[in-house]
Amino acid sequence: MSETLVKYIEQHREAIESALEEHLPVSSQTGASRLNAALRYAIFPGGKRWRPLLTLLGAEVAGIAPGKAMPVACAMEYLHTSSIIFDDLPAMDDACLRRGKETLHLVCGESLAVLAALALLNQSYGLLSRTAERHGCFRAGITLVGEAVDCIGADGMIGGQVVDLVLKGDGQSDESLVSRNLKTTALMRLTMMSGALACGASESDAAELAEFGATLGMAYQICDDLLDELAASEDLGKPAHQDARHSRSNHVLEIGVEGAHRLASDLVTTGLQRLQDRFGSRPAINLIEDASRIILGGAGRLIEASA
Ligand code: IPE
Ligand code: IPE
Ligand code: MG
Ligand code: MG
Ligand code: MG
Repeated sequence: MSETLVKYIEQHREAIESALEEHLPVSSQTGASRLNAALRYAIFPGGKRWRPLLTLLGAEVAGIAPGKAMPVACAMEYLHTSSIIFDDLPAMDDACLRRGKETLHLVCGESLAVLAALALLNQSYGLLSRTAERHGCFRAGITLVGEAVDCIGADGMIGGQVVDLVLKGDGQSDESLVSRNLKTTALMRLTMMSGALACGASESDAAELAEFGATLGMAYQICDDLLDELAASEDLGKPAHQDARHSRSNHVLEIGVEGAHRLASDLVTTGLQRLQDRFGSRPAINLIEDASRIILGGAGRLIEASA
């Protein structure tokens, strides 16, 4: 990791954690304390926190101070965490381990896990619109909630998760894999643009960041699939070989580990070039490049070790 990215993460980690604490949905209802415990269990201590970091960096690319975009960064982490709570349920991936701990439904039961995931999802919509409102960006607030609805919706994360459940085995078209990867690309798209849009960036800058987010999201999911194939559960903090267990389709199965890694790397290179062409050279773009190289590097090292 570059020294500047280490510094950036150190500089913002504490602020992200305390903002996640501050904005965590809490029920004041008598008898709802189990919901509050479930929400806390799901969010803390958390995973890699790439989404809040990338939200702040996306905002910075558009010239917005990261502090302003912090509630939006929390919204992205809540959305992401809600998606993995659903993803781990017995009816979905049936996973027992997440972020190095037992999955939420195993600890508190499926009904509470579903409600906690919905509470996080709901909280994120409120954070998006209220942040835009606080910065006087009323029109952007409406646009952003619409973007979030599309991101989660039938042609976004939910659509991607459905395709992931039904698509079995190899021999799949590129188009099918793109649809399946919407489970991750949709949220990465929203992540890269939402901090910027909520805090006053132009719609065209936000659209450019969204485009990069979709590209990075594709590379991110390919790397996740590589880790699923090559890493051990104890290193991942979640069960390995889940795609094989469920006979799921992915780029690793279609084009092999090297081919998949090359594709992820090419996507990142093309995406970064486009970002630079649009915004010129900016420190935040260098940091996004460093972050992308770390994401690619983890999978790359496993490929080398297995060769
Ligand atoms: C896991 O995401 C689910 C995917 C969309 C690939 P992460 O690997 O970013 O999970 P955490 O937040 O670090 O646990
Ligand atoms: C999860 O994809 C995507 C979403 C949560 C929307 P995966 O099923 O590949 O994620 P992991 O591997 O369980 O983290
Ligand atoms: Mg899944
Ligand atoms: Mg899963
Ligand atoms: Mg996976």
